[in-house]
Amino acid sequence: MSAALVPAATEPTVPDLIAARPHLRMHAMDGLMLEGVPLNAVADALGTPVWVYGAATLRQRYRRLATALADVDIHYAVKANDHLAILHILHREGAGADVVSGGEFLRARAAGIPADDIVFSGVGKSAAELETALGQGVGQVNVESAEELDRVDAVARGLGVMAPVVFRLNPDVDAGTHAKITTGRLDNKFGVAADVLVALYRRAATMANVAPCGVALHIGSQVMSMAPFRAAYATARELIVSLRAEGLPVAVMDCGGGLGIDYGDGGDGSPEAWAGAIRAEFGDLGVRLMVEPGRWLVGPCGVLLATVAVTKSSGVRDFLVLDAAMNDLVRPAMYDAWHAIVPLSAVAALGVPRPVDVVGPVCETGDSFARARPLPPLRAGARVALLDAGAYGAVMSATYNARPLAPVALVDGDAWETIRPRQPVEAMWASERIPEFLR
Ligand code: LLP
Repeated sequence: MSAALVPAATEPTVPDLIAARPHLRMHAMDGLMLEGVPLNAVADALGTPVWVYGAATLRQRYRRLATALADVDIHYAVKANDHLAILHILHREGAGADVVSGGEFLRARAAGIPADDIVFSGVGKSAAELETALGQGVGQVNVESAEELDRVDAVARGLGVMAPVVFRLNPDVDAGTHAKITTGRLDNKFGVAADVLVALYRRAATMANVAPCGVALHIGSQVMSMAPFRAAYATARELIVSLRAEGLPVAVMDCGGGLGIDYGDGGDGSPEAWAGAIRAEFGDLGVRLMVEPGRWLVGPCGVLLATVAVTKSSGVRDFLVLDAAMNDLVRPAMYDAWHAIVPLSAVAALGVPRPVDVVGPVCETGDSFARARPLPPLRAGARVALLDAGAYGAVMSATYNARPLAPVALVDGDAWETIRPRQPVEAMWASERIPEFLR
């Protein structure tokens, strides 16, 4: 468990949490607002649990990142939040997409992102997925193994196309984040070591249907310090220099994603510092620079609204049982992640905080959002918002305990609309069949 995902020793108060997030404010009558929309209005209309994203907030974040990274192409990591409306907004702002499956590729295409603005990453691409992407003219395939290189070449040959290939370096750097989201160590499955990469690059240069174009890396997610980025980039720089010394062409450096956000520990990843680290290593190499950020763009833009279903005490602990659960937002259960929890009512928010365990109704002890969280007294029926849930929230939802996928709403300034209705309960089993031989 790393410090990166744990709040400071003193937990921030509700007013502090709201003050740190310019897209949120507490209205005395209407309660918690996202941009210009009272979140109670969304919960009244759609019920809870419900995801709500802020479009204006997303645009603002994109613009800050794009300004800092003026000389770098941004391919948004679709996995962080793959809703078509989110992809549409980011594409309109100028982003391409980084995808890790045939499904994500087709999703990005469905949102209107041209194939040549898409980078296909991922450690285990199938021939069918490669065929879809290469067949439509995907901009770049980030290759992570020798077997995959052969597969890309074979699929490209079958299609009669040249595959633009970039090789993912595993720089063996500790990103200083949670073990489950660290990707840049040699004991992780991702990328290839520098010497292996050189051998693959040489081989690719002899292949008829592969054009080796450059180097990629991605060391992990929720990275809060620039030091691991700098260490990884220094290794990549050395590699580019030595590839070129052999006469191999290197036109692209894809610097990955991973920039962290402030969940409540006070440290926010700085796009400006990130841009500085990228420029310092690669600025003079004359390469096309790329990044693949996900969380930093969408994380702070989203909230998950929930209602207190039951309050109870075991004698030793007090519990708030919400109607949202680990099947909706799995990050606390999976990574011990800390998400701020704020009451929707301004009056409720004024109460004197006392520690309470905030849990979901799923039949697992791990179905917990927070332990001993200082919260004002809340009764059954009170609503809360789990903050910074725009990244790796709805995308990681499941229907465990036959709980349907929650609806999603998009706010834009004062306007809001439902962008995905609640999954009908029957839809969860609609495609299931009881075989004849059991009847
Ligand atoms: N590029 C590649 C190749 C990736 O694997 C990822 C994330 C990204 C870019 C985007 O990273 P970001 O900028 O969002 O940190 N579910 C976990 C995070 C998993 C990240 C997976 N890869 C969580 O909830 O913390």
